Order: sequence, then C-alpha cells, then structure tokens
Amino acid sequence: MASAARSASRAFLRSTSATSSFRPAARSTRFALPTQTFRASGRRGYASDAGETKSSNTLLWAGVALAGGAGAYFYLQGGDSVTSKNFVPAKEDYQKVYDEIARRLADETDYDDGSYGPVLVRLAWHASGTYDKETGTGGSNGATMRFAPESDHGANAGLKAARDFLEPVKAKFPWITYSDLWTLAGSAAIQELGGPAIPWRPGRQDKDVAACTPDGRLPDASKDQRHVRDIFYRMGFNDQEIVALIGAHALGRAHPDRSGFDGPWNFSPTVFTNEFFRLLVDEKWQQRKWNGPAQFTDKTTKTLMMLPADMAFIKDKEFKKHVERYARDSDAFFKDFTEVYVKLLELGVPFTTKPEDRYVFKSSE
Ligand code: HEM
Repeated sequence: MASAARSASRAFLRSTSATSSFRPAARSTRFALPTQTFRASGRRGYASDAGETKSSNTLLWAGVALAGGAGAYFYLQGGDSVTSKNFVPAKEDYQKVYDEIARRLADETDYDDGSYGPVLVRLAWHASGTYDKETGTGGSNGATMRFAPESDHGANAGLKAARDFLEPVKAKFPWITYSDLWTLAGSAAIQELGGPAIPWRPGRQDKDVAACTPDGRLPDASKDQRHVRDIFYRMGFNDQEIVALIGAHALGRAHPDRSGFDGPWNFSPTVFTNEFFRLLVDEKWQQRKWNGPAQFTDKTTKTLMMLPADMAFIKDKEFKKHVERYARDSDAFFKDFTEVYVKLLELGVPFTTKPEDRYVFKSSE
C-alpha cells in the first residue's frame, strides 16, 4: 500500500477537519472500511510496466554523454536545477517528479483528512474539464487556472491549496510545464491513495491568460442529470464514462468555505474505493436540514453527504445501471475509471506521442 494512503487514512481515523460533522463513533455502524482497496488487481498495467526500468546507471551515463557540460551537471543533480533548453526529460525524470509528489503527500498530512491527494485529483479534473470538443478550447493543455479570471471561477474555489502544494515540486523540476505537473499529480494522487495506476504521458504546453476559459464549463452541483449530461457530453464522454468518473467522489469532502456544501461522501475519504457507488445504492439518503445549500445526508449516521448532482446518478435509469454495476464490482470500476481518467487528462492535448507510449509510474513503497 502506498505510504501516503496509509498515513492519510490513519490520520482520518484519528481526527477529522473542523468543518466536519463526522464523529469517529459513526465507524461502529455498518459502514466498514473497505477491504478490497489494495488488491493487487487494482494496480493494472497498461502499455508500459512500472516494474520495467532500464539500468538507471546506463541511462545516467547516456544522459551525460548526450547532454554534456552544464546540462550534464544539472542532470547529475537529479534534475533539481535544470535550465538547459537542450534537456529532454525521459520517463525516469517524470518518475522523479512522481516520487517527489508522493513524498510530499506522505509528509504533508496536516491538511483536511490527512492528505492533499483528493484536492490534487480535483485540480487535475478542473484543469481538464473545461474542454469543449466543438471549439477545441479548454482542457488540461494550458494550465490557465494559474490566472484570474479562471482561478476565481466559483467552481475552482479551494484549488489554490492544490496549486500551492505543487509549487515546491515545480521549483525542484522547473523543466516540467504546469499543465503536465497538474495532470501528473492527479494521476499520482489516485495511485498513492490506493487506486489504480493511471497511465500518463507528457506533452502539454502552458498558455497565457488569453486562453482562460469562460466561467460555467464545470458542473454545478445543485443541478440534475440534464445539466450533468450537457456538461460531460460537451467534453465528449458517454453515460458509462460519466458514471465511472463520478466515482472519484470516494475521495475527499465538500467544504463550506469553498463550494458551500459540507462533508465527506464516505468513511475513508483518503482511500480510493468504489464506496461512493456502494453507499449511493445501499444507503437511504434524505435532505439535510441545515443552514446551507440543499444537500443529502445518510439516514443511518447523518454524517455523510451527497450533492444534488450525485443523487442524479440514481434518479436517472441509464446512469443507475452503471452505478449498480460499479457498486458490486470494484474491479470493473477500477478498470473503467482508469480509462476514463486518462481520457479526461488528455482532452484537447496535441500529443506527438502515441497512447502506447504512456508511462506507468512506480508507486511509493
Ligand atoms: C457532476 C459532476 C461533478 C460535480 C457537480 C462535482 C462537484 C463537487 C463539489 C461541489 C465538490 C466539493 C468542493 C469543495 O467544497 O471543496 C467536489 C469535490 C471533489 N470532486 Fe467533484 N464534482 C463532479 C465531478 C467530479 C469528477 C469527474 C471528479 C474527478 C474525476 C471529481 C473529483 C472530486 C474530488 C476528488 C473532490 C474532493 C476535493 C477535496 O477534498 O478537496 N468530481 N466536487
């Protein structure tokens, strides 16, 4: 199990954030911590295998020979200060970025439920989910959320925490674009939180403020299935893919000072599971009585939450059949989520590499 997920879930069991209504006593209910999460089958391979590493020494010396002079010096420093324009990062260099993100996830546990992982997953999704297939605008290529107005869009409230978390990583590996870094971090977070390996490839370029997308491209949580379909069809997803994507709501929580909503979707918000689907179908959900936006709470413990848009996934028959399947079949969810999250992070990116050139990174020990 990845150490970040381990320490983070421990942290969650110890304490919850100040905004939470979750009480540890609630764990004595029938919501058990999922046991299926860390099955080896969850770590599915894609084209390239994480285990397959060429001799790093050979590569290192090949790098020295190729780069020469200052470039080689910087390479030997582990990529810390690479400024040479000639530097062409290889898989090993991106693995170093992954390792740095994983290390920071394991170290920085004094946040939320004990992990920055969920907010990194959300950053990668919001950077990518602005894509419009008709105009080819938006998507992860550009990292335009660095700029107002996009950073100030209501849907992006709270994502500064994720962007700031990644700044030291960018400082250490200045050759990586923000667009590649944010998506790599989303994929690393899923993997480090016990989810499947998300194959990833570089190739995104940062754009300037002129490329910011207009407000309103991301989903509004107070709306229903019609809106959800409008938003995700615009990106090019079908119903099954939309359902698989929403399974990411197994992670993290809503924050009153960000979206206005409040609470986690399940009892293990720092572990990637199919619990979102299981609870959606197995639990009874009722309107929460509180001084906040309309949201739902579980009848049994009244400590969990569903957004109105989450409830649309069981109100709508087409969506519900996929929810039921993923609730019963964690492997199917992990497999389908992997494919669709890869697709999300690549929307609108003009890659010069092929899908089979994607990297699968080694998880932290
Ligand atoms: C109908 C579509 C969706 C809606 C309406 C929606 C809405 C929301 C809202 C309101 C929050 C709470 C934000 C906060 O207060 O901090 C949230 C959190 C989150 N969302 Fe979604 N979301 C959707 C789809 C997705 C997708 C496709 C993903 C990823 C694949 C995703 C990943 C997450 C994660 C990981 C969090 C937790 C963030 C944290 O703990 O800071 N969401 N979402």
